[in-house]
Amino acid sequence: LRASVAVRAEKQNKEGLERCFQPQASFKVAILGAAGGIGQPLSLLIKMSPLVSALHLYDIANVKGVAADLSHCNTPSQVLDFTGQAELGNSLKGVDVVVIPAGVPRKPGMTRDDLFNINASIVKTLIEAVADNCPDAFIHIISNPVNSTVPIAAEILKQKGVYNPKKLFGVTTLDVVRANTFVAQKKNLKLIDVDVPVIGGHAGITILPLLSKTRPSVSFTDKEVEDLIVRIQNAGTEVVEAKAGAGSATLSMAYAAARFVESSLRALDGDSDVYECSYVQSELTDLPFFASRIKIGKEGVEAIISSDLQGLTEYETKALDALKPELKSSIEKGVTFAQKKE
Ligand code: NAD
Ligand code: LMR
Repeated sequence: LRASVAVRAEKQNKEGLERCFQPQASFKVAILGAAGGIGQPLSLLIKMSPLVSALHLYDIANVKGVAADLSHCNTPSQVLDFTGQAELGNSLKGVDVVVIPAGVPRKPGMTRDDLFNINASIVKTLIEAVADNCPDAFIHIISNPVNSTVPIAAEILKQKGVYNPKKLFGVTTLDVVRANTFVAQKKNLKLIDVDVPVIGGHAGITILPLLSKTRPSVSFTDKEVEDLIVRIQNAGTEVVEAKAGAGSATLSMAYAAARFVESSLRALDGDSDVYECSYVQSELTDLPFFASRIKIGKEGVEAIISSDLQGLTEYETKALDALKPELKSSIEKGVTFAQKKE
């Protein structure tokens, strides 16, 4: 009897697992920088998605082992590895979503803009290959400084004649994830319910959480607003300092990027109720790129949600005015770099 119960339990367990691991769609995702601190856990999280049929892992080194390791997980997607510039083009053929966490991370004392000199060139090279091999894919840019790397990508895509502003996204999901976590902790709310839109950009004061738009509606004292905004704006630095020279946020970033990938895949799969914050080409302000809540559909950005910017508090209005010069100059720096003749 004991043996037959065990067999039945094993069968039920197997059937349950099979249901979880049945493919529900067959999208292809490429990760450029897949062997890195973000790339590895991000690849693992995307390998768990039932919406993915193929995962293309690209890096300049060490990606073979990551792919071999990951390929043993019994989820439906096939894992393929691509190493070095010669294999970059092939890593991008036929993919629906390209995620770019390639580049160097900060060390204590650095700003994200200090990464510009190295990461701008990396992003430029990768986007040239995206333009040549999968110009219709959704492009998710994680590499810092995001405020500049997204405008660089836009310029390169324009030069190649394939720029579609609806399909280029700067990944700012980590700011939302952090805002949700810190607000839930401070106000003793159930985490799953909390949603704070974060607008502007992804560096220092350009990160502007709109606490007044928190859902569910919640009131904050002036001190709480000040403390929360400073904590959210400095959360990246908090991790950089805690890691003491060993890099910046990787695990929380992988979690946030996987959420943004999953949202994009759901939208591509026809879900008509997908909203995320992202740094995109925008007419919401006088700046050409701006992070806000967007609706994502099969063709990319379907709508930019303007209602969050109405009825801001005095604090938020001032913070919005204050962030614009820095964001403008980061955008211009990216555009100038991309337009420079070699
Ligand atoms: P990491 O150094 O651990 O990994 C980066 C990976 O990129 C490495 O595997 C490296 O080999 C690879 N790489 C370097 N040059 C490349 C190229 N030309 N082509 C392909 N791959 C290349 O760094 P990390 O911690 O994973 O961070 C990566 C980037 O993400 C950094 O710029 C960091 O600032 C940024 N970041 C952004 C956010 C965000 O919210 N947008 C959050 C965290 C980190
Ligand atoms: C973050 O917000 O964690 C990233 O932008 C990495 C960094 O340098 O802070």
